[in-house]
Amino acid sequence: MDTTQPPTQYDQAFWAALRRDQFYLDPNVIFLQGGSVGPSPKPVVDKVTSSIRAFDSDPLKHQGIFHPLVEEARKKLADFVGTRPERLSLVQNTTMGMSVPAQGLLFNAGEEIVMTDQEYGAVSMCWEYIAERRGMTIKRVTLPLEIENTEQIVRLYREQMTDKTKVMVFAHVYWSTGLVTPVKELTALGREHGAWVIVDGAHAVGMTPVALDDWNPHFYITSCHKWLLSAKGTGMLFVSDDAHEHVEPLILGGSVRPNPNASRFDMMGTRDQTPFIGLGTAIDFQNEIGWDRIRDYCQGLAGYLKERLKRIRGAKVFTPVDRDMSGFLTTFTIEGADIIKIRQELWDDEHIETVAFHIKDVPVFRISTHFYNSLEDIDRLVREIEKRL
Ligand SMILES: Cc1ncc(COP(=O)(O)O)c(C=O)c1O
Repeated sequence: MDTTQPPTQYDQAFWAALRRDQFYLDPNVIFLQGGSVGPSPKPVVDKVTSSIRAFDSDPLKHQGIFHPLVEEARKKLADFVGTRPERLSLVQNTTMGMSVPAQGLLFNAGEEIVMTDQEYGAVSMCWEYIAERRGMTIKRVTLPLEIENTEQIVRLYREQMTDKTKVMVFAHVYWSTGLVTPVKELTALGREHGAWVIVDGAHAVGMTPVALDDWNPHFYITSCHKWLLSAKGTGMLFVSDDAHEHVEPLILGGSVRPNPNASRFDMMGTRDQTPFIGLGTAIDFQNEIGWDRIRDYCQGLAGYLKERLKRIRGAKVFTPVDRDMSGFLTTFTIEGADIIKIRQELWDDEHIETVAFHIKDVPVFRISTHFYNSLEDIDRLVREIEKRL
């Protein structure tokens, strides 16, 4: 299906009922900001809360009962992202997962870290810190706001790679423009140069297909509480077989015992396991609807938004239209408009939740469209923006 093809009427009725019956979302809010943190469907919230109640009815008994449920979630997640559970660590979020290779690999002064000028703040700061502490140099790929094709991204990275490159960091989906990058090709480039390939997949899982064993980066990290709509504080770290023995655990304890599985990186002592039980439910929820169906609908919504924006004078969309390079985020500017002010008014006056920020000094809106959104949500957003121009 082409990205610009809107959903059919039949489809719209299906998704409207789903939103009405399966979410706790406030019906007075148009939530177009799931890219930051997604609303979990009712079965996920209910699973977590009932698990908390069960746990506190008899904590020690439930520690034992919960363990296999968490492992089941790890297995479901592995199937979802195309790998084996042995290669997955369950961490709390992308920030934590990114810290494992950053703090756990051995680096030497003079080595180089290659990443773009559009990495997410926490990711960029993490590597800036490591560079400063270890005497490394950061080489920035200048990623334009508008990308022509996937080869351009690979070429821009290749230009920065040298025989000193030790770390290559890139996002699978850029938080800024929603650009989806070619993980397989970039991984091949990094491996060719002998660099550790570290992928920030915070937005990718639940938005775009992920095939980790096929691509085989050294590390791939995501936050399942974004597009997978999992319980909050459920992240994932993939560790390739050839990286495993080179990285030290972030938290020392049971993790120091010999263990060939990536689960050693999630050992943190006693903590709440219920969000990970909810993770299993979140994956079941999406699998029951059908991931292809979800993707078609959400790409259709994003495509519809891109089409609608063409009618606004001065609007410029930075997210590619091509399905290989885009997902469910749409970033655009409007020449001459005070976008930050309009965003605030949309929330204050209309309860339309969006986000606006500057990227390379250009003010932009970033709109997240998930399956709990509708064509009417988009029409309403565009109408309310137009009124304020
Ligand atoms: C691209 C990207 N990377 C990393 C993160 C950090 O995710 P978390 O806050 O779940 O650790 C975010 C959060 O929005 C993000 O957009």
